[in-house]
Amino acid sequence: MQSAELHHIGRATNRVDGRLKVTGQAKYAAEYAATDLLYGVIVSSTIASGHIRKLYIDRARTVPGVVEIFTHENRGKAARLDRSWRDEVAPPGHPFRPLNSDRIIFDGQPIALVVADSYEAARDAASLIHADYRVDAYCTELERKRSEAYDPPEKRSGIPAPPEPRGDAETAFSQAPHRFSGDYRINAEHHNPMEMFGTTCVYEGDGKLTIYEKTQGPQASQSYVSSVFGLKGSDARVINRYVGGAFGSGLRPQQQLFLAVMASIELKRSVRVTLTRTQMFHIGYRPDTYQTVSLATDGNGQLTSIMHDAVAATSHQEDYQEAVVNWSGMMYHCDNVKLTYALAKLNTATPCDMRAPGAAVGITALECAMDELSYEVGIDPLELRKVNFASKDENTGKMFTSKALLDCYRRGAAAIGWSRRKPQPRSMRAGHELVGLGMATGTWDAFLMKAAAKARLTADGKLEVSTAASDIGTGTWTILAQIGADALGLPIESVTPNIGDSLLPESPVEGGSWTAASNGSAVQAACDAVRQTLFKHAKKMANSPLADSGFEEVEFHAGRIGRKDDPGRSLSIAEVMHAADLDEIVEDGKVSPNARQMRKYVSYTHSAVFAEVRVDEELGIVRIPRIVCAAAAGRILNPKTARSQILGGVVMGIGMALHEEAMTDHRLGKIMNHDFAEYHVPAHADIADIEVIFVDEQDDKVSPLGVKGLGEIGIVGTAAAVANAIFHATGTRVRDFPITIDKLIAA
Ligand code: MOS
Repeated sequence: MQSAELHHIGRATNRVDGRLKVTGQAKYAAEYAATDLLYGVIVSSTIASGHIRKLYIDRARTVPGVVEIFTHENRGKAARLDRSWRDEVAPPGHPFRPLNSDRIIFDGQPIALVVADSYEAARDAASLIHADYRVDAYCTELERKRSEAYDPPEKRSGIPAPPEPRGDAETAFSQAPHRFSGDYRINAEHHNPMEMFGTTCVYEGDGKLTIYEKTQGPQASQSYVSSVFGLKGSDARVINRYVGGAFGSGLRPQQQLFLAVMASIELKRSVRVTLTRTQMFHIGYRPDTYQTVSLATDGNGQLTSIMHDAVAATSHQEDYQEAVVNWSGMMYHCDNVKLTYALAKLNTATPCDMRAPGAAVGITALECAMDELSYEVGIDPLELRKVNFASKDENTGKMFTSKALLDCYRRGAAAIGWSRRKPQPRSMRAGHELVGLGMATGTWDAFLMKAAAKARLTADGKLEVSTAASDIGTGTWTILAQIGADALGLPIESVTPNIGDSLLPESPVEGGSWTAASNGSAVQAACDAVRQTLFKHAKKMANSPLADSGFEEVEFHAGRIGRKDDPGRSLSIAEVMHAADLDEIVEDGKVSPNARQMRKYVSYTHSAVFAEVRVDEELGIVRIPRIVCAAAAGRILNPKTARSQILGGVVMGIGMALHEEAMTDHRLGKIMNHDFAEYHVPAHADIADIEVIFVDEQDDKVSPLGVKGLGEIGIVGTAAAVANAIFHATGTRVRDFPITIDKLIAA
């Protein structure tokens, strides 16, 4: 009972699924077995735009073990209207439909699915399929499409348009004593979770399907499949118990889900379809952007003008949108602000949310420009941020539910040793390396989404908490166990979370950093209802020591309900339930955004990122010996998994700063570096010391738990802090991300 003595919330707690993960028992979607399972391998197009004239599949058919080859000519029946194909987070437009026709709209589009009784046979047969294409004109180069950028006519649900201009930013800019304007480019990045997309669709007979699917939302995938195939609600069940990362790519159903289910329905067999690492580069991506940021200040460094214009890539078929420039209107106090955001259509798959979508790129440009401005003004970059601190959201005029950003600046600066920084670029050295210190501000939304949960307490003192959330590596399993354990005063081992199943209580996709706040609060609400019920029964017991107690006067501790002021007056959960003749108590919990509060308040997570870099002067090699990320994220449920989230975000930020870049041969319209050999995500050798600081932040409005969420804030500001440190080290400003050696040496 040792662990029941302490509170679990706020305590660094090992992942409750950790043992399953490291022993390989935590199965991913493509690891589930099924009787007589068939294997599907996708054949991808080799052109970016055009039509299939003829598909040569005869040789593939002769491969022993091949059961069927699906193409646009024999694809199974599916819905006809776009709206039936629109998933929970779909942008406006025409959602992609695999094998829908002979038309090719992006490189790597599926043109056939080979289904065989072994993966090897399917892969062998797939390699024998060839297509004869008629190629149409295409463009995959954002620069060439910038002149055709447009304001998306229909907004994507949940994505705010840039705010209306305020003041007169142009005049203020032209009249300011200090100003800076710069053009930034951030290349497209691709999601590279360790687990590749996979679906194992188990054909249960009687038309029922159990679908093991890599997704960030089992219910989102369930309703997609139901609407695309016209299934009854109970025909398909989607399970994603464990997910090996996703970073946003699992927010939308990917091509393998449709193909596995289609083949399963057509063949009345269980079918698994997985994507290869290369095929992972042909699904959504973080769109490349061109951004111009213009900033001006008065003589004291007070901002008098902010202008931020962004052009981002989308596809021809959908208007993918994210909030890129909006942050520039709210992060600093300024009366004259003008922000624009436009899209340009490329012949690619539709871009897709990727960790801190919009903020990760928009704030990179803004925070680099702030750094450049600090040299113009002749003021310390950190000081410039502090001088311009915004105490309310100036885009909306609303108050922050909390904003402990100044504490982030203070603690982060102390941890990196900001005071040793000499203002002049190229003024710090260690041996043959130039040393630089840079920093940036970060912010991300703190959402509370509508979510539901169920709590089930059994007479043996075991608690099960369920909600259709997902754990994409974020620690959801663990925090839900912690919440349940504290609510009922149980050891964490007595709590079984149940997530990753479309049959569980309603949940949004796991995204936006909202799961801890939303599903966590729903679980807490369900547990609270169990406490109330249990207490009611405890009071009613004959000779109850709690008969005259109010609910506020008791606590749940070590498997007992007792008076706070007199712990001796207590009853065990088991005796209460036994006396009431109950085997179990089951209660529901719900949360939804507080509309009334949202009229006055906004909620954001804040951070300050500090980077130290070393740059080899001759070779241009950048090392990052140290990054400090100080975050204000409300209440921290689990310092251990919370820290891991920030570490992961910072690592991805380092990837954005130095490594990650989709290289497309625009003559062919093809991504060329579609594997881990050539698309470089940071490896251990690229990562040194990352220090994570959580500053204290009490927030009783952001969510019932006081939690803000941490999945995304770690990436925001990191690339800018690194870029700014590189400038401080070298005096060379690279505005084209990633900052690779060639750019640094050529500049
Ligand atoms: Mo996140 S990009 O909402 O998974």
